[in-house]
Amino acid sequence: MDEVSPGPSRAGGFRWEQPELLRRRTSVKWRAYPSDVLPVWVAEMDCVLAPPVARALGEAVALGDTGYPAGGGYVEALAGFARARWGWDGVTAERAVHVPDVMRGVVEVLGLVTVPGDRVVVNCPVYPPFYAFVRNSGRTVVEAPLGPDGRIDVAALTQAFRGATAGGRRAAYLLCSPHNPTGTVHRRDELEAVADLAETFGVRVVADEIHAPLVHGGAAFVPYLSVRGAERGFSLMSASKAWNLAGLPAAVALAGEAAGRDLARIPPEVAEGVSHFGVIAHTAALRDGAAWLDGLLAALADNRALFTRLLAEHLPALHQRPGAGTYLAWLDCRDAGLGDDPAAVFLERGRVALTGGLPFGTGGAGHARLNLATSPQLITEAVRRMATAL
Ligand SMILES: Cc1ncc(COP(=O)(O)O)c(C=O)c1O
Repeated sequence: MDEVSPGPSRAGGFRWEQPELLRRRTSVKWRAYPSDVLPVWVAEMDCVLAPPVARALGEAVALGDTGYPAGGGYVEALAGFARARWGWDGVTAERAVHVPDVMRGVVEVLGLVTVPGDRVVVNCPVYPPFYAFVRNSGRTVVEAPLGPDGRIDVAALTQAFRGATAGGRRAAYLLCSPHNPTGTVHRRDELEAVADLAETFGVRVVADEIHAPLVHGGAAFVPYLSVRGAERGFSLMSASKAWNLAGLPAAVALAGEAAGRDLARIPPEVAEGVSHFGVIAHTAALRDGAAWLDGLLAALADNRALFTRLLAEHLPALHQRPGAGTYLAWLDCRDAGLGDDPAAVFLERGRVALTGGLPFGTGGAGHARLNLATSPQLITEAVRRMATAL
């Protein structure tokens, strides 16, 4: 890789990791491809671990604190973060349970309100495991495509809810908020329309809000359970994406005011199956990691501006509509004539690994997703390689 400096330290001690150390990482982002490939695909970040998280983990290791989790520290830290960040008081211990990770939580919560054979509505293009996990649990996926502006299309959602509940079947709606891969941050009025529609059709809403802390550009994240009419809904929250803790998984499932009894039916082997180290790391992140998160968001804003400029300069046939959430760029490559799977072309000809769009469902063909959570130098190098491929 080219000569790269780690870049400045930012608020909360935020820093991008140096490339030679990234190459030593053993997680999937840096190991799935040969070493001549620059990986900008899976949603892992190339940052140095947030100091409060590193400290908490270091203390736990030093103490041999490697047993089972206890207490409600994670939920309390999440409640404090939600209050400070989003002005929302809705995280309460009575309507919160630990789950091992967000996708396991999604499957378990869907299992509380649907039975095999029921339908689950998703807004395509969307995070591919929404298809696989839902199907593997015996439910059928119904697609309600996002509109051409990348936002929830109420007409498409109405049609999907009508189809999903036909014959009196129970149905659920798996909302991705903010949306992966487009980065769309849903507005309060949109979420209220969702809640109204869900009530009309008796559809239960399960909001995957794993990207919630990753909202920038003056936009505001609106917790689904904070909107009018969302009382029968659920949310999955986690520090996993925003503090890069996928290797220390943990998440919290939350119920709306009228869904607490449903959530209480989560089996104990699920709620008790959360990792103690996951809980330690996530608790430290949410309680003490806000300044670091601000540093990350500032770095991501710079990266997004850099990427937009480089794209216009070197890859004008590629189009994006940058959303205010996540660290992902969703690229429409159809004008570049790269076929249905442009990521395969970038990989083969440019030795740069993006995530292909096809597994994101309808609307994914001809698209690729690029992970901007890396140093400006590596973003520059990724664009250079993509341009070579063209
Ligand atoms: C929308 C969304 N949900 C869930 C996950 C995975 O969460 P977990 O590792 O906690 O299952 C991701 C990971 O990128 C994601 O983007």
